[in-house]
Amino acid sequence: MSGITIAIDGFSACGKSTLAKQVAKHYGYIFIDSGAMYRAVTLFALQNGLIENGELNSSHLIDKLNNVKLRFEEKEGYSRIFLNEVDVEDEIRQGEVPNNVSKVATIKEVREKLVEEQRNMASSGGIVMDGRDIGTVVFPDAELKIFVTASKEVRVTRRWKELMDKGIQADIKEVERNLLERDLIDSTRLESPLRKAEDAVVLDNSEMTRQDQLQWVISRVEDVLVSKNLS
Ligand code: CDP
Repeated sequence: MSGITIAIDGFSACGKSTLAKQVAKHYGYIFIDSGAMYRAVTLFALQNGLIENGELNSSHLIDKLNNVKLRFEEKEGYSRIFLNEVDVEDEIRQGEVPNNVSKVATIKEVREKLVEEQRNMASSGGIVMDGRDIGTVVFPDAELKIFVTASKEVRVTRRWKELMDKGIQADIKEVERNLLERDLIDSTRLESPLRKAEDAVVLDNSEMTRQDQLQWVISRVEDVLVSKNLS
């Protein structure tokens, strides 16, 4: 048995990737950070002069999409994203990428390409993927869908600490501005806006430790496995 599909969606910096990694490790499933894919396409656009003074040249980006090759590789137990064979896992979290990624993610052709790749990566089953449209668009039939939320203060502080821990200097006010701007663009765009799938369960992890949230998800996964006779 190759395992179930677990879709994790939610607003920016609510801990989706941390949770998805924990769950994937626990079950020996594949973890895919779909946000890293949108970030890597944004880095490609920046590297190719397709975003200037915050203006995105969408038609040129669409023309060049065939030149974007993405893949993930496990290194020391962590999944890292490669853009055209270069490890860009750290680069996509800083600089101009966070300021432009939500604009890039509104483009229908970008989404179609990435959704197709996401579905291919999951074809063998046993997958945990986090993002904005995983339960609604990418895997509408996922056996378990989780919509993660946390208070704004918690999200801002978590993201700021995460960046500082990586040695990336960040201004907390700027982190807050970026998260709120992305949340607004992500939830109001026409293509696959961020929303909770009707059959998703809500996890508010504002007051939870990492261990608490893992236990919370494990008990939901176990229910699904029992109901499908997979345990
Ligand atoms: O880590 P954080 O929650 O801040 O963001 P992320 O998951 O790395 O996603 C970065 C951006 O990519 C989001 O703000 C969305 O604009 C876009 N995204 C998307 O549109 N659809 C997804 N499935 C994942 C990310």
